Formats: sequence, C-alpha cells, structure tokens
Amino acid sequence: MATIRRRLTLWYTVALAVTVLAFGTALYLERRQSGIKELDQRITLEADLAHRRLTESYKILGRIVTTSGSNPALDPGISAYLESVRDYLVVADTAGQVLALSELTRALPADALERLAAPLGTPGLDRHAGTLPLGPPTGPVRFLALPVQDAGPSISGLLVATPTGQAAFGPANLLRSMLLIAPIILVGAGLVGYWLAGTSLRPVQTIMDEVEAISDGRSLHRRLAVPLAGDEMARLALTVNGMLARLEQSFGSLHRFTADASHELKTPLMVLRAGVERALIHPGTPPEILQSLDETLAQINQMTEMVESLLTLARADEGRAPLAVEECDLRALVADVAETTGMLGESVGITEVHTLPDAPVRLAVDGGRIREMLLNMVTNAIKYTPPGGTVAISLQEDAEAVTISVRDTGIGIAPGDLPYIFERFWRADPARSRTGERPGTGLGLAITKWIAEAHGGSITVQSRPGRGTMFTVRLPKAQVATV
Ligand SMILES: Nc1ncnc2c1ncn2[C@@H]1O[C@H](COP(=O)(O)OP(=O)(O)OP(=O)(O)O)[C@@H](O)[C@H]1O
Ligand SMILES: [Mg+2]
Repeated sequence: MATIRRRLTLWYTVALAVTVLAFGTALYLERRQSGIKELDQRITLEADLAHRRLTESYKILGRIVTTSGSNPALDPGISAYLESVRDYLVVADTAGQVLALSELTRALPADALERLAAPLGTPGLDRHAGTLPLGPPTGPVRFLALPVQDAGPSISGLLVATPTGQAAFGPANLLRSMLLIAPIILVGAGLVGYWLAGTSLRPVQTIMDEVEAISDGRSLHRRLAVPLAGDEMARLALTVNGMLARLEQSFGSLHRFTADASHELKTPLMVLRAGVERALIHPGTPPEILQSLDETLAQINQMTEMVESLLTLARADEGRAPLAVEECDLRALVADVAETTGMLGESVGITEVHTLPDAPVRLAVDGGRIREMLLNMVTNAIKYTPPGGTVAISLQEDAEAVTISVRDTGIGIAPGDLPYIFERFWRADPARSRTGERPGTGLGLAITKWIAEAHGGSITVQSRPGRGTMFTVRLPKAQVATV
C-alpha cells in the first residue's frame, strides 16, 4: 500500500515537473524570440534613419565623402550624427573601407570590428539581417546590413547591430526566477500528491484490513461493508463479498463431505471389527489365519481412529463441535493420563514422570477433549522416543493461565519441519507411516491444536533433533472460547 502511494506521489510530481519545465521552456523561448524581434525593429529604424540622413545629405551637399590624405572620410556633420547612434553602426565605402563608426563601435576591439564590418565587404550587397558572433565581452549581435545607393558613388552600405544579450536579459531573469520557484512548487506538489494518494487509497486500506480479518478460514461467513458511494470501491467490496460467498459454499461442502463420509464409514468399520473379533475367538481358526486376522484388526483399529479424528476436525471446521465445559481438577486429569500412558511407556522401555502442584488446579474445560489432547501429546512423546528415554509431564498454574507441558528425550523435530507439524496428515517420515514402526495418520497434533485453541489457549513447541521435544499448552483462566 505504502509503495503504491509513494509511486503515485512520484508520478504526480514528475508529471508536474515535466509540465512546469515544458511551460517554462516555451515561455523562455517565446520571450527570447519576441525580444529579438524588438531588437530587429530597433536596428531597422536606426539603419533606415542613417540611410535617409546619408541620402538626404548627399542630395543637399552633392558630395559627402572627402579624401583627407589617402583615407576617405565622411562629411564631419554627418559623422557627428552617426557617432551619436546608440548601437553599433558601420558605414563602408565601395573598397570595403570603414567610413564612419558610432561611438560604441569605436570602443570595440579590432578583431571584433573586423567581424562586424564583414557583411559590408561582400560584393553586390543586399539588405539582410542576421546574427554575428563578436566574441567576448560583447557576445553575439543582431545586425541589419543594407546597401546605400543614393549617397554618391563612394558609399557602398551601412550596418547597424546590437547585442542579443539585451533581448536575452529579460527571459534570463525569468528563467532564474523559475528555477528558484520550481523546487518550492515541486515540494508543494509532492506533499499534495502524497495526501491525495493517501486519501484515495484509504478505502482500499479499509477493505484490505477487513479481508485480512476474514481470511482465517473460520470467519468466511463475514462480509465486507459496501461503501454507499457506488464507486469502484463499492464494486471491489461487492466482488470480494461474492468471492467470499463462493468460498464459504465450497468450504462448507468440503467440510460436510468429510464429516458425512467419516460418519458413514463408522458403522461399516464397527461391523468389520466385530466380524474379525468373532473370527479371532473362533476355536477352529488355523494359526496362520489368526495372524492375518490380527493384522487386519490392527488396521481396522487404526482406520477407526482416523475416521474419528477426521470427523472431529470436520465438525470443528463446521463449528459443530461444541465443548462440554465443566469445572474440573486438571491434576486428576493429568494424573489419569499419566497412569494410562505410563504402562504404555513401560512396555517400550520409557520412563514416565509427572510433576503436579500440591493444590487442586480448577479450570472450566471440556474434560474429555483435554484428555484427548494430553493423550495425543504423551503418545507422540512415547512414540518418538527411543527405549531408555524419559517423558516428563508437568502441570503448572499462574495468575492468568494453566500450563501443561510434555517433554521427551526423543528424536526431536528438524527446524525446517516445525512449521508443518500441526498440519493435517503431515508426518516427518511418511515412509514409516501407517504400517511401519511408528504408525500414525498425522492428525493427532492438528486435533491437539484445535482443542487448545477452542479453549482460548495456544500450543507451542520447542525441539532439537536428537535431543528431544517439548510441547507446551497454555490455557487462559479468564475466558473459554466455544469454537
Ligand atoms: N514428540 C515428538 N518428537 C518428535 N517428533 C514428533 C513429536 N510429536 C510429533 N512429532 C512429529 O510430528 C508429526 C505429526 O504428529 P501427529 O501427532 O500429528 O501425527 P502422528 O503422531 O504421526 O499420527 P497420529 O495422527 O496417529 O497422532 C509426527 O509424524 C512426527 O514426525
Ligand atoms: Mg500423534
């Protein structure tokens, strides 16, 4: 979510930056262009004025170029007028010699002056405008060169020029101001964009939170609140609701199928067991048949257990496994389980010890389920501990909760397997399943976890391969959830 918000803000800011940049560039170019146009108008006016002055003076005086010594020069009166022109001005004769300069032109370095007068040196001079680089410090200039034909035979043309820097000055200022303001605009836009993105994504966040709360399989009956606005969010909520309804339906039929199938299997299994048991005690049965009947009975028993477990889990999933909660002394319960499993442990060479508090530990629980949970944990401990090992059961009580732990010195569980042990049908070593030395279905811990959670509690496991395992169930005293 945070990334979409950040991405939106970034794109918003980038789009604005590009817009500002394009707008600024266009404005700058336009200002510069019109600045140059203004310069062109000014030099045209000055050039035309100078041209008129030359031709009119010629008409009146008849001769305006004097030759003092070897250098030709303009009439002093006209020279004085031309000198006062505020821009660069050059008048050249037919031999390409400079006849008159404005005061500003006189201040130019020799090479710059040469470059400036160059357009006048071309034979067959035409009226034309352009840009000339004069080099530092003047920079490029806009010029207008025009032929002068009605001012006597010796004058060929004149040129007026002015630095483009004058036109660029205004736009350059504009550019500088824009560069200063742009970061402020962009930071502002970024903040506004971040806020906008956050506001528009908030409904998505709400929907996400709600979906997250529902995604645990038992809350599929819940639905999202559909926003009244009837916008995209309402459509999203409706779509998710539709999906939840379909999920609920398919989960429901799956659970119902498992529950129905397990239930339907119970009776034939019972009939089967009764039949095999009767055959076992029949006096005339040959010993080899007896052995295979024995194995069949073991399989039937295991299958009955599995069907029972499946039925329990399917009912729990459907919410049809209510707890028969009654206050009881957990010490008695633990002691009872320890006694039952103690004999089992003894038969396979495992010592079982249990530690109980002196005072009764009274808690409102479903005694039958808690017993089932303890049996699962202790039989696991015995099953996964080699002969000579120890299984320790302990019951403790504090102000908030009762803790039952089962610790063994068995084969342990690999760290990579720990996240899966509570999953249905998961077994660390499937190769030895069902008929092997450690038979089982992989449903025991799934049921154990369900029982702990149905009581509002939790189950945790600590294990080191080769060293042993400890399962700890914590049952809170405060409330008992009836899942
Ligand atoms: N105390 C333990 N020590 C080592 N591994 C264990 C222990 N308890 C459980 N496991 C591992 O977790 C797996 C799942 O245990 P779970 O009790 O669910 O199934 P199971 O014992 O194989 O079969 P069943 O359904 O008959 O109990 C076991 O197959 C085993 O690999
Ligand atoms: Mg087990």
